[in-house]
Amino acid sequence: MEKLVSSWFNDQPLPQSYIFPPDTRPGNHIIPGCTTIPVVDLSKASGLHRTGIAQQILKASREFGFFQVVNHGVPENLVNDTMILFKEFFELPAEDKADVYSEDPKRPCRLYTSSSSYETEKVHLWRDNLRHPCHPLEECIKIWPQKPTRYRETVAAYSIEAKKLGLRILELVSEGLGLSPGFFGDKLSESVLLSVNHYPPCPDPSLTLGVSKHCDPNLLTILHQGDVYGLQVYKDGEWIGVEPLHNAFVVNIGHQLQIISNNKLKSAEHRAVTNSKVARTTAAFFINPSDDCIIEPVGSLMDTDESPAYRAFRFKEFLLNYISLTGNPEKSLEPFKLHA
Ligand code: OGA
Ligand code: NI
Repeated sequence: MEKLVSSWFNDQPLPQSYIFPPDTRPGNHIIPGCTTIPVVDLSKASGLHRTGIAQQILKASREFGFFQVVNHGVPENLVNDTMILFKEFFELPAEDKADVYSEDPKRPCRLYTSSSSYETEKVHLWRDNLRHPCHPLEECIKIWPQKPTRYRETVAAYSIEAKKLGLRILELVSEGLGLSPGFFGDKLSESVLLSVNHYPPCPDPSLTLGVSKHCDPNLLTILHQGDVYGLQVYKDGEWIGVEPLHNAFVVNIGHQLQIISNNKLKSAEHRAVTNSKVARTTAAFFINPSDDCIIEPVGSLMDTDESPAYRAFRFKEFLLNYISLTGNPEKSLEPFKLHA
């Protein structure tokens, strides 16, 4: 427990073990507070404008791999209550979090710090993380934190709404691509995982990162980043900031959607920087295929002279490889690529 950044960060200079090598440090330069990440208004997705909204989502997914959604249908008071609850969780006294804390990456519900390879990693991340599966809900809920007392009830309601939103977006993606509306609806999106990041105020944000550069290994991510800035996306050789918008979710394309679309949609690299003033808490809802689901590029999405860029594999195989690549996430697609 004493390893958690939130247990010791007060009034200390940044320890050496959190200082990133110069080429991966965020530095001091100001990242443009970005208005270029597209914002999609989902209230227009029913009725006349549906095709247009699907096309907006596809364009953003091709160009950025990221977009934000507003008027998304998840009740605002539920989102606010859940985000407050997550903050409260991290502020609980140590003894109330002790039963969830674990250094064993195999434990499905756990509170830990940095990455799953704390002991072997060269540099630690300035973040604590709580993660647990949300499917099947009736089973998973039994292993979730019991404090704060409303945790299970509130997060269950949130996870149902977040999954619903994810499926709505996936439906629009499939329509935009010309696939059947339910294409992603079954095994490809069966497994859902909640990952709550907590980044305490940091003594020197220029030298360290909350999450280092990576792509998400899943199908789709629905992130609530609260109201504190910190998320950056790598595009055309530079980092651009994703501005926190009121009552919006950030959506990004995971590796599996890039593979299934044979690189038509893009899984973009991103990272989280820290700040010296306030704690930042974010909730990533990862939509994943089931472990045994076969992933491969879809034939109908390829032109006649186009060949598949990836071989078929089981999602579990992808994850095992991804986890083994700590520090080298840019290599995560390599073993699955077909070289024409
Ligand atoms: C993640 C992630 C970004 C953030 O958890 O995969 O990219 O802003 N988080 O917390
Ligand atoms: Ni991510």
